[in-house]
Amino acid sequence: MATASLELQGLNFNLSEEHLAVQEAARDFAQNELLPGIVERDNEARFPAEQIKKMGELGFLGMMVSPDYGGGGMDTVSYVLAMEEISKIDASASVVMSVNNSLVCYGLEAYGTEEQKQKYLTRLATGETIGAFCLSEPEAGSDATSQATTAEDKGDYYLVNGTKNWITNGNSSGICLVIAQTNREKKHRGINCLIVEKGMPGFVVGKKEDKMGIRASDTHSLLFTDVKIPKQNRIGEDGFGFKFAMSTLNGGRIGIAAQALGIAAGAYELALKYSQERKSFGKQIFEHQAIQFKLAEMATKIEAARLLVYKAARLKDEHKDYVQAAAMAKLFASEIAMWATTEAVQIHGGYGYVKEFHVERLMRDAKITQIYEGTSEIQKLVIARELIR
Ligand code: CAA
Repeated sequence: MATASLELQGLNFNLSEEHLAVQEAARDFAQNELLPGIVERDNEARFPAEQIKKMGELGFLGMMVSPDYGGGGMDTVSYVLAMEEISKIDASASVVMSVNNSLVCYGLEAYGTEEQKQKYLTRLATGETIGAFCLSEPEAGSDATSQATTAEDKGDYYLVNGTKNWITNGNSSGICLVIAQTNREKKHRGINCLIVEKGMPGFVVGKKEDKMGIRASDTHSLLFTDVKIPKQNRIGEDGFGFKFAMSTLNGGRIGIAAQALGIAAGAYELALKYSQERKSFGKQIFEHQAIQFKLAEMATKIEAARLLVYKAARLKDEHKDYVQAAAMAKLFASEIAMWATTEAVQIHGGYGYVKEFHVERLMRDAKITQIYEGTSEIQKLVIARELIR
């Protein structure tokens, strides 16, 4: 039964009872399991291992994966609803969730062999282990085709050498999807994606990054020295690796858009509540038009971001082209997240600048959404290319 609906450009946004139940479960989990200790985890840059384990048990780490491989068999709309709720409280936990769901699990389910799915996807979807998506390098961020990591073809295996940078779940993951160049003459069509397991000889976890935001997620460099990867660990045909990365990132961007939306909405909800508690000049600060206008503008722009996120998710669920919609959702939601969190700090005044009021953390967390899974500038490039395609 439909309980909430909205129509936009022929798209039906009916949220079913199942959608609303997922949303509520994620909201409860965030309040009860992620909020306690969040300031300390952020201060100490401590990975929320226990909480991530529980997220796996509750099915948040493989939401869209088929039940045949241990997943929840849910749609992308359910996923973005859960991402928004988790991100309102804890963007460090939600990036773990996003990378595992929409980059690693999705990539394996969409393009992996049956053997790869049985061996790896089932473990990832249930949260027995988590995954990492290893594309970025010291000299290859936005310019992702410039891969310096090599996967030399040695007959029945690849020999991998190189360094990956800023890898989410770098230390905590057990399974990594590693993009590497096999044939440089073929440029991006000579790139492969290989499934690499932690513990394989020559694979070492490097430096942990000391980050501005999402401090409790573990971001590391990964080092590969003569790592032997069997051919059966290659995803897709020889040379499919770059296409694999781009196609997977299209969906990943919906997840990060939902994360940005959640960060913005979380900061807005805190600011709205605070504005009705705090008094100045003899009245609640909400009664001042300066504050009302800020909140009205935040509510409007956050709602617009939500529509873009739902639209991209719905298009993906309906197997329609969602490349541009995903880029628009990520671009807009991340810009709104940075702006709305800054406004939320402003509404809180001095309290907003200290840690226990949470909005300064959300402001620091918001920044990364304009950078990872394609910067805002890359999203504009993707959108523009689609305009004339
Ligand atoms: N979807 C599907 N295929 C795509 C695509 C897309 N969005 N964008 C490009 N491609 C395909 C093209 O069709 C082309 O394939 P063919 O040659 O077979 O036709 C191939 O990829 C190369 O494309 P381009 O010629 O357009 O390559 P380019 O170098 O000019 O530009 C780019 C590509 C869009 C800039 C790309 O490099 C890009 O998206 N960069 C950003 C990288 C990124 O998002 N990194 C995120 C790191 S992962 C992360 O952050 C995870 C985390 O930890 C949170």
